[in-house]
Amino acid sequence: PFDTLRRLRHETPVRYDSNRNCWDVFRYEDVQRILKDSKTFSSERGAGAGSTILFMDPPKHKQMRDLVSRAFTPKAIQELTPRIQSIAEQLLDAVTEDAMDITSDFATPLPVIVIAELLGAPKEDREQFKRWSDILVESADDLSDEAFRRITDKRMKAMEELYGYFRNIMGQRAAEPQDDLITALMNAEIEGEKLTEKEIVSFCVLLLAAGNETTTNLITNGVRVLTEMPELQERLFQSPDLIPAFIEEVLRYYPPIVAIGRKATDQVQIGDQTIEKGAQVISWVGAANRDESRFVEPDDFRLDRKPNPHMTFGFGIHFCLGAPLARLEGKIAFQALLNRYQNLARASSGSIQPIQSSFVFGVKNYPITMH
Ligand code: HEM
Repeated sequence: PFDTLRRLRHETPVRYDSNRNCWDVFRYEDVQRILKDSKTFSSERGAGAGSTILFMDPPKHKQMRDLVSRAFTPKAIQELTPRIQSIAEQLLDAVTEDAMDITSDFATPLPVIVIAELLGAPKEDREQFKRWSDILVESADDLSDEAFRRITDKRMKAMEELYGYFRNIMGQRAAEPQDDLITALMNAEIEGEKLTEKEIVSFCVLLLAAGNETTTNLITNGVRVLTEMPELQERLFQSPDLIPAFIEEVLRYYPPIVAIGRKATDQVQIGDQTIEKGAQVISWVGAANRDESRFVEPDDFRLDRKPNPHMTFGFGIHFCLGAPLARLEGKIAFQALLNRYQNLARASSGSIQPIQSSFVFGVKNYPITMH
């Protein structure tokens, strides 16, 4: 999609899409301004999404963010390093041939297991966890009303089950606190205010929905880069300290999230267009990340890009809370892969299915060989 996004950024940097009834914004500067100005560009959505931090505006957003940040600190994440390493090694130990599907064998289970452990879900519930998180991010294969209704029904059912599940765990933790995120969220407090049960449960569900598919796509997209530019493999093997720079460049170049939505709370001018109050505005991060006014040779993949101010984790008050976790998982995943295998290559057999969502850049499967 990046050729199309480049063309649109040049030809119609701010445009109205009458099919989808929304405004599209493609330039770095404009995207950044929108994400910065949470007053004019609101994150609030219709009923039902009310207790999810992602869809809150200030002042409620800040209150909630302060509370969950207490439990979800970069330090707490850093401490997961040895566990994530051992999960990554176990997954690769289970691959006995010199071929695998990087998506299903590695990139999908890794973040699911990590998040399940972080939350404190018992091991035996992992399979169920994976099914729930798949349903949450599943999109309709076709655009028929029928397909849409089927997906929505499935999603509602999974949500209900997840709510019940987390409510049950909370009950157990109330009686017997554990060293896990759920207990930490139950104890987090600011000026005597605690999170409600509904807020905690919604936050846990959000972590599954926001954290799993995105991290899966970060890993798969990174492997895709390594197979498209095999010379990088030797380079990273020789200098593993370049892996974090590699991860940042993957995030910029093949971003797991390509677009971020907002709603205009007022009439507002962007570029030479006037956006009406109440309009949906889509910020195309996938286009902004390759804006030549901000990035030198934006369509080249460069390990020496410094700084690398991509906006794949968003910008401003909603900046991804899970970024430290995603970066850590990405780093560990590539350390493990590059340590073990010399030549990662795309398998010649099997076609690759892109994920059917214009907001996501990723594939459902990516068969590789390694030696
Ligand atoms: C918010 C991207 C991984 C939890 C966001 C936003 C983006 C994003 C773009 C901002 C959305 C907006 O402004 O409307 C990503 C990408 C990831 C990733 C690309 C992986 C490469 C994770 C993980 C977690 C997580 C692993 C947690 C386990 C969250 C939460 C928010 C968020 C809780 C809401 C923050 C707020 O509204 O204040 N993420 N994310 N994300 N992300 Fe991530």
